[in-house]
Amino acid sequence: MLKGKKIILGITGSIAAYKAATLIRLLIRKGAVVQVVMTDAAKDFITPLTLSTLSQRPVLSEPFQGGSGQWNSHIDWAAWADAIVIAPLTANTLAKMANGQADNLLTAIYLAARSPVFFAPVMDVDMFEHPATTKNIHTLQSYGNILIPPDEGELASGLSGKGRMKEPDEIVSLLESFFKKKNRFRGKKVLITAGPTYEKIDPVRFIGNYSSGKMGFALANAFAGQGAEVILVTGPVSLRTACTNIQRVDVSSAREMFDRCMKHFPTSDICIMTAAVADYRPAMPAKQKIKKSDTALSLELTPNPDILKTMGEKKKNRQFLTGFALETRNAKAEAMKKLRNKKLDLIVVNSLKDAGAGFGHDTNKVTLIDKEENIKVLPLMSKEALAGLLTEKIYEYLINKENHAI
Ligand code: PMT
Repeated sequence: MLKGKKIILGITGSIAAYKAATLIRLLIRKGAVVQVVMTDAAKDFITPLTLSTLSQRPVLSEPFQGGSGQWNSHIDWAAWADAIVIAPLTANTLAKMANGQADNLLTAIYLAARSPVFFAPVMDVDMFEHPATTKNIHTLQSYGNILIPPDEGELASGLSGKGRMKEPDEIVSLLESFFKKKNRFRGKKVLITAGPTYEKIDPVRFIGNYSSGKMGFALANAFAGQGAEVILVTGPVSLRTACTNIQRVDVSSAREMFDRCMKHFPTSDICIMTAAVADYRPAMPAKQKIKKSDTALSLELTPNPDILKTMGEKKKNRQFLTGFALETRNAKAEAMKKLRNKKLDLIVVNSLKDAGAGFGHDTNKVTLIDKEENIKVLPLMSKEALAGLLTEKIYEYLINKENHAI
């Protein structure tokens, strides 16, 4: 899988930089071409001579090569790479990447990257748990970059906790598995909904909900990362899309979402509806702002079209339909009703009773129920990890339609 792959290995100033030497050896052994790019701080931990000897290429760290006047164009290097792996990545360089700072060759290459970027944040447990680090990691993930999560264990400081760089052989396995899956949804069109819908009460007010869009965007990134053509129909959210093979369609109301989904549904192979669609809308939105008065105000609500149910009724055999269900009680029973009623292949149930699940969180805890009513309870995990896991499940269903118990 790695034979001939051009990999930029970015190394920053962490004690874990010593592991980069083994990582280079393993990558070279697999047939990859490894170009090391170091920050100045990284040179305090491991010498460029060691790394250039192992990678069989001169190590880069400056935009201009000393004395020769040769320019190491960050644009050219970014275009050259099949993947960029930054391991170890310090809290400092992580923060620069999250904020688009490009004050050295590595951060400039990162900013110009066209290929997938893997990042392995490595630091002491207290730094790792600081909210700024958590925010920066999530920012990179929202750009579509792939987290190589640190391990827990003994740290160089003598403390114990999260922050150790993954072992080089595990990083190599992760890269192999990435390249193996990279194109497995190529030729497949995946329709995903995300976020809330806003139903107008008057020109300044609406009925909405707390959906942030994180679940749907994580799924869009995961499928696009595996080669699918993704149509992401999203309600109003403050997230951005990262991959060029995601076509983002912004909508506001349930009826707009319905229209845009119906346009793409007939040509879609996989549909995943994570949006929290308002079931009702004000029957007669006021044309002018409703003025405050001392009397009670009633709004007449009328039902919105059910996008997923309509898809279930029109579904062709080759299409795979996944719904989400957010429940507050009897989660499994309610979800099973939706699975049958909307003629779904799979439903993903999250309950507001579970800490860290549902609206707004970076994590989710779900149960999968398929149309044969096989049930799989999953632990709490990041929405990105869940999205990756759902690509696995759906892939298994598609290649193994006959025997698809989960
Ligand atoms: O966006 P996040 O903050 O990351 O939160 C994620 C989430 C909690 C919104 C997501 O995980 C989730 O559970 N989405 C479904 C929310 C929901 O309330 O679903 P529902 O039970 O109302 O609807 C069931 C299914 O039918 C859903 O797939 C929904 O998209 C779809 N539906 C519902 C109503 C409607 N009119 N049209 C639909 O297509």
